[in-house]
Amino acid sequence: MRVDVVTIFPDYLAPLELSLVGKARRAGVLDVRVHDLREWADDRHRTVDDTPYGGGAGMVMKPDVWGEALDDVVASGTATPDDGAATPDDGVATPDDGRRPRLVVPTPSGRRFDQACAHEFAAEPWLVFACGRYEGIDERFVDDAANRIPVTEVSIGDYVLNGGEVAALVVVEAVARLLPGVVGNPDSLVEESHGVDGLLEYPVYTKPPSWRGLDVPDVLLSGHHGKVARWRRDEALRRTAQRRPDLIDRIDPERLDAHDRAV
Ligand code: ADE
Repeated sequence: MRVDVVTIFPDYLAPLELSLVGKARRAGVLDVRVHDLREWADDRHRTVDDTPYGGGAGMVMKPDVWGEALDDVVASGTATPDDGAATPDDGVATPDDGRRPRLVVPTPSGRRFDQACAHEFAAEPWLVFACGRYEGIDERFVDDAANRIPVTEVSIGDYVLNGGEVAALVVVEAVARLLPGVVGNPDSLVEESHGVDGLLEYPVYTKPPSWRGLDVPDVLLSGHHGKVARWRRDEALRRTAQRRPDLIDRIDPERLDAHDRAV
């Protein structure tokens, strides 16, 4: 998968060098390219924002600068080696060549980003993130992009960040770990919170069996797989009902057995 991130703070994306995402990049599973939006500004001050029409506080990011940035990033993916287009040749295979990306715009007014959305994005060959700052990007940037490529505006939660960079990090990490070969043991993708059964994950324990007067639940030491599985499901149900009752309401009743209902 190819990921481009356009931002006025490229350094914010440095964590994409680390951990699993960094490993995926080095393994060639993920091709990440971070761009400084100011490269597309055309004045001496490298201006990317202006005052809002209609008045009000703050500044709005200019559609022309964003539009040209997106045009160039999109063109870099459709370029062939001979046509002279500015495509960094870093030796990483780009399965997206000749394809169009999905534009992802992090914004608190977007669609809520969740695990289902992470799976949808993981099925795309190429994502381009447009990280806005200030009061956001002029609406015409998204309107214009949507005439040519699919666009999703996403929010990572009901709170306001200073810009889209941290949200882009969140989305890239959630998506990258779904790509084949990125997470070592694929079973760990199945059992975790927001997995297939729609429940939060059960509590987990490791050695020692007793620590600071707190004991690992006996059933986990019993070696009885059936009882362990039942205990884990009960705990997941209990925890979900307590912390996220909204998730319980969304579970298909067909997937709940009589024991589940009693928990
Ligand atoms: N930019 C600012 N706040 C945000 C949020 N909650 N989600 C995504 N992008 C944002």
